Amino acid sequence: MKGIILAGGKGTRLYPLTLVVNKHFLAVYNKPMIYYPISLLMLAKIREILIVCNPEDLKLYKTFFLNGEHLGVKIDYVIQEQPKGISHGILLTEKYVGNDSVCVVLGDNLFFGHGLPQILLKIKKDVEKNAGSYVLGYYVLDPQRYGVIEFDKKGNVVAIKEKPKNTKSNIAVVGLYFYDNTVFDKIKKLKPSFRGELEVSSLNNLYLKEKKLKVELLGRGFAWFDMGTYHSFLEASEFVYTIEKRTGLMVGCIEEIAYRNGWITKNELKKLAAKLDKTDYGKYLLNIVNEQK
Ligand code: DAU
Repeated sequence: MKGIILAGGKGTRLYPLTLVVNKHFLAVYNKPMIYYPISLLMLAKIREILIVCNPEDLKLYKTFFLNGEHLGVKIDYVIQEQPKGISHGILLTEKYVGNDSVCVVLGDNLFFGHGLPQILLKIKKDVEKNAGSYVLGYYVLDPQRYGVIEFDKKGNVVAIKEKPKNTKSNIAVVGLYFYDNTVFDKIKKLKPSFRGELEVSSLNNLYLKEKKLKVELLGRGFAWFDMGTYHSFLEASEFVYTIEKRTGLMVGCIEEIAYRNGWITKNELKKLAAKLDKTDYGKYLLNIVNEQK
């Protein structure tokens, strides 16, 4: 399975913050926003990652992540000239993905919760073995901001509506999707929505029509943030700060995950720590280097 991070778009809901800087580089407490979706793919043990980005940001992404080798992963970049939708961004990766299945994560989404890696690995295994697709649902107070899952009386999924005015459930579709290799042919059948985008909800509805969509609900023990507005952006920062301060353990620390996955050596982690100088981030990595196993 290959990983795809959608990290383009204009971030208009965060203007003026994002007038000149792409939102995925903004700080969510102590690391750039993009670290969180990358860390998620790494927790799912996905080592081949494609970052879909705007042309003007390519250089910055490359400066940050190079080819990913220092993190034990392989990162490639795919340019999306215009933000024509999440499904459009996925389609651009077709050539790189080849015959593989994909895990797509939105660049502005943050996930946290006990047992999350196990859930990711379970879904990954199922899609690799049995094909089809998965979306994940999360109970929210403001479903009209998201893709919303509609259920019948027996609890079967009947539709996914993109930002409906009248919501029929509180279950939002989070920005994390698993698809088999038919995803590209399906996207080619989509028509742009009223806002001119190839919507991810339309794609999910195609899988649903074929009875090849599974839904995994993330329960109350999980936290999910879409960091696309001022409020959610601040809330996510506060959340990461609170958890890290209380536990002393970092959320979304890609260097730590690379090391604990066994993808980089202690010495390599030490070098990454040294680059961060005497910051708390660098000290955190050094503490891991000095851990007694
Ligand atoms: O966060 C979950 C929600 O994300 C889902 O519930 C919705 O169904 C889904 O459509 C999406 O809604 P948003 O309105 O939040 O999507 P947004 O336009 O903010 O884009 C999400 C991410 O994808 C963001 O990091 C930018 C990136 N993106 C977006 C578009 C439209 C791209 O890379 N290219 C694009 O063309």
